Amino acid sequence: MSQPSILVIGCGSIGERHLRCFLNTGRCRAAVCDTNGRLVAEVAGRYGVPGFESLEAAQEAFPADGWVVCTPAHTHLALALRGLARGVHQLIEKPLATGLEQVEETRAAIASSGCHVAVAYVFHAMPWLRAMREVILSGELGSPRHATLTAGQHFPTFRPAYREIYYARHESGGGAIQDALTHSVNAMEWLIGPATRVYCDAAHQVLEGVGVEDTVNVCARHGDVLASFGYNQFQAPNELEIRVHCERGSVAMQLHEQRWGMMRFGEKEWTWQRHPKPIERDDFFTWQAESFLEGMAGRPCFLATFEEGVQTLKFNLAALESARSGQPVAIS
Ligand SMILES: NC(=O)c1ccc[n+]([C@@H]2O[C@H](COP(=O)([O-])OP(=O)(O)OC[C@H]3O[C@@H](n4cnc5c(N)ncnc54)[C@H](O)[C@@H]3O)[C@@H](O)[C@H]2O)c1
Repeated sequence: MSQPSILVIGCGSIGERHLRCFLNTGRCRAAVCDTNGRLVAEVAGRYGVPGFESLEAAQEAFPADGWVVCTPAHTHLALALRGLARGVHQLIEKPLATGLEQVEETRAAIASSGCHVAVAYVFHAMPWLRAMREVILSGELGSPRHATLTAGQHFPTFRPAYREIYYARHESGGGAIQDALTHSVNAMEWLIGPATRVYCDAAHQVLEGVGVEDTVNVCARHGDVLASFGYNQFQAPNELEIRVHCERGSVAMQLHEQRWGMMRFGEKEWTWQRHPKPIERDDFFTWQAESFLEGMAGRPCFLATFEEGVQTLKFNLAALESARSGQPVAIS
């Protein structure tokens, strides 16, 4: 049987990584499409795959089984709808969108097409997060009651072009809430369930050349679990830690240390566990690609579902509204 075919739409920073990591799986053929002709020629040449300047040309010459939508967030759902209309499976980059306008139409298109759709919240591919989630879901520590997330990095180091890309404007998915915090929020919702209320304070503190918020504090409720998030995009350490405190013990993940841990009630120290070998960023994306290919084949897939992506989108919008109004915002 021939391998499934994947078209990566948008081959900027993350699109190229997806292309490389789908190819890394050794389980699919791939091509790229980008409206920037120079860029698509460069990337296609680098990986020896077909490259197209328009979606129409790509659909004609490379009728793919799955698309990876890697364009700025305000274009995600319109593109996904075009693929769903042709019965093409969709892996959509985060955040799912910048508004709820096309959500209902996309939901209906998924139902009628029967296509597999996932949102590329890549934390789902982190072995530490999955291990932590298993412990929480097993119930051995009792119910989660309180959770905290603290994270940050010096964004200009990782994305020197931040002023010139989608990041600079909320309308295209920019700012710390929609672009960075959203990964952490989706991970937290995967661990302790959907947020139901959000109170957010956010400000532009440091990053030069943009006006969007680079610093965020959120105080949230996930049903009857209390949670807090602190995130900035200018600090020197590149760190992320999630802690979930349950009735009979705590679990934690430290991304920068590549480890997760547990402390049962009565114990005095954390028991930390690491993956057998050091993990590179591409590894997460390769595991994510593999899981998406599994989902396309009708087998279990651990990636964020469309509905989980919608829920995290609602959190983003509630956080932006709360930061503007200074009031807590309920999520329906
Ligand atoms: N999962 C992650 O870790 C991660 C990291 C970075 C970005 N992202 C997300 O991925 C998306 C893209 O981010 P990026 O950093 O790669 O942006 P980018 O600006 O580097 O690349 C986007 C590309 O999309 C192309 N494009 C725009 N509209 C198009 C269209 N209609 N058809 C074809 N190509 C089109 C642009 O020419 C550009 O090359 C955003 O939603 C972002 O939030 C995710």
